[in-house]
Amino acid sequence: MMMISVATVQSTATAAAAAALTLLLLIQAASGGDPDMLQDFCVADTSSGLAPLMNGFPCKARSLVTSQDFVFTTFREAANYTVTNTGAIATFATVAEYPAVNTQGISHVRLDFGVGGVIPLHTHPLASETIFVVNGTIFTGFVSFDNVLYSQTLQAGDLFLLPKGLLHFQINVGDGPAVSFNTLTSQNPGIPFTANQMFETQIPSAVLQMSLGIGTQQIQSIQDAIPRYYG
Ligand SMILES: *[C@@H]1O[C@H](CO)[C@@H](O)[C@H](O)[C@H]1NC(C)=O
Ligand SMILES: *[C@@H]1O[C@H](CO)[C@@H](O)[C@H](O)[C@H]1NC(C)=O
Repeated sequence: MMMISVATVQSTATAAAAAALTLLLLIQAASGGDPDMLQDFCVADTSSGLAPLMNGFPCKARSLVTSQDFVFTTFREAANYTVTNTGAIATFATVAEYPAVNTQGISHVRLDFGVGGVIPLHTHPLASETIFVVNGTIFTGFVSFDNVLYSQTLQAGDLFLLPKGLLHFQINVGDGPAVSFNTLTSQNPGIPFTANQMFETQIPSAVLQMSLGIGTQQIQSIQDAIPRYYG
């Protein structure tokens, strides 16, 4: 009869747990966007109030899920880009607006631009993005870790990749309106605007002065001039 000591069982269990953890980490490292899901879908129950406590939202009860939960129709209409004072506006289909994307590692944004309209400098800390131009002429670019600007003027039908987390922007450089539909590799990509992060938080003036080589009056005039962008 084979004798298995308690110690052997314990170390085998520990080894199995370690192997499972390693596998989990490998799977997570291999995925490009949000962590892999553990079920076929998990339409977000955004009313649960649990979101701040967990990574994503809990699932709406399956018995309550219908085909309608997977549809998002807001992109049918152009958004009014004159309500921002940068002449462009972003309409999001992240988990907040489109609960079906919960746990799926994907979201979308529609950009509408007037002539010369700008989506100001921003990042998506949690997502890579592709911009797909459907109308007009859009100049877009991102800045790499080593401060190189990679940019391109895009025509309708063109795609451009904006790598995860990198500083980027879009501007309509055509003579009519422009529209793009973009895909993001996170249900909640984050969209911090750089100017607002720098000048509309409580970062001490001395830090801004040293970071930018400017004085307090210049800081004040930049703060006063930052566009009230929202989208
Ligand atoms: C767009 O918004 C502006 C206000 O910023 C308003 O005057 C205009 O009527 C709106 N246009 C449409 C089509 O809703
Ligand atoms: C594309 O832009 C032109 C003007 O440049 C406009 O007439 C047309 O309606 C736009 N089409 C879409 C799908 O936005």
